[in-house]
Amino acid sequence: MTLLELKNVDVFYGRIQAIRGMSFKVEEGEIVSLIGANGAGKTTTMKTISGLLNPSSGSITFEGQDVTKVKAHIRVVRGISQAPEGRGIFPGMTVMENLDMGAFGRADKSGLEQDLERVFDLFPRLKERQKQFGGTMSGGEQQMLSIGRALMSSPKLLLLDEPSMGLAPQFIRQIFSIITEINKQGTTILLVEQNANQALARAHRAFVLETGEITHSGTGKELLSNPAIKEAYLGVA
Ligand SMILES: Nc1ncnc2c1ncn2[C@@H]1O[C@H](COP(=O)(O)OP(=O)(O)OP(=O)(O)O)[C@@H](O)[C@H]1O
Ligand SMILES: [Mg+2]
Repeated sequence: MTLLELKNVDVFYGRIQAIRGMSFKVEEGEIVSLIGANGAGKTTTMKTISGLLNPSSGSITFEGQDVTKVKAHIRVVRGISQAPEGRGIFPGMTVMENLDMGAFGRADKSGLEQDLERVFDLFPRLKERQKQFGGTMSGGEQQMLSIGRALMSSPKLLLLDEPSMGLAPQFIRQIFSIITEINKQGTTILLVEQNANQALARAHRAFVLETGEITHSGTGKELLSNPAIKEAYLGVA
């Protein structure tokens, strides 16, 4: 079943067009990766899906319903949750308070307890550090907190914007294996990454974005072995 569909989406910042005629689908259960250079429009795409930006034309459908005009906080309730670029955790709040913010508006107590347990299983460090202020967590720990907070809304679609940014190689591998684990537990994932190797290796399908347009698409494997993509994004000629 198609979970998310973008059709001919255009997004502008003032007069500057950041996304041009973007169309793609995310099927339920998939990891879909979006790769592209700095300024290609990856974050803009994520914010348009989460409802922080409005397209000037085109449509966004989630679970078969048009959500193009639906406000961001309602999209969270419908099942779209974003761990934003640069983490965006609340530095003056504790780890537990940050996680509670992710559950904002939820009243299903037993479901919440299960989700908190799921987050603590994925990220034992967060369990150990429940009372520590978010701002004093290390970069990698803040990344865990950002993903954990996004999971606290029990999303059907998890949007991850550069989860590996600024992390040491060992941590990068760990974050990507956790992303795969989250997906195996049943959450569909749209992943934006500069780390194209890992993002393609982990993805069922992927898209390449160049100056606001999708230029390549295929399975993660296909794109990994495409010579043009190797040269441009994977650091091999
Ligand atoms: N608030 C804004 N006002 C004006 N232009 C913007 C704004 N935000 C982004 N842009 C421009 O839109 C284009 C796409 O930006 P976006 O942040 O989506 O890129 P990105 O692919 O996420 O890049 P990066 O890999 O550096 O995070 C860039 O040219 C950027 O300068
Ligand atoms: Mg970005």
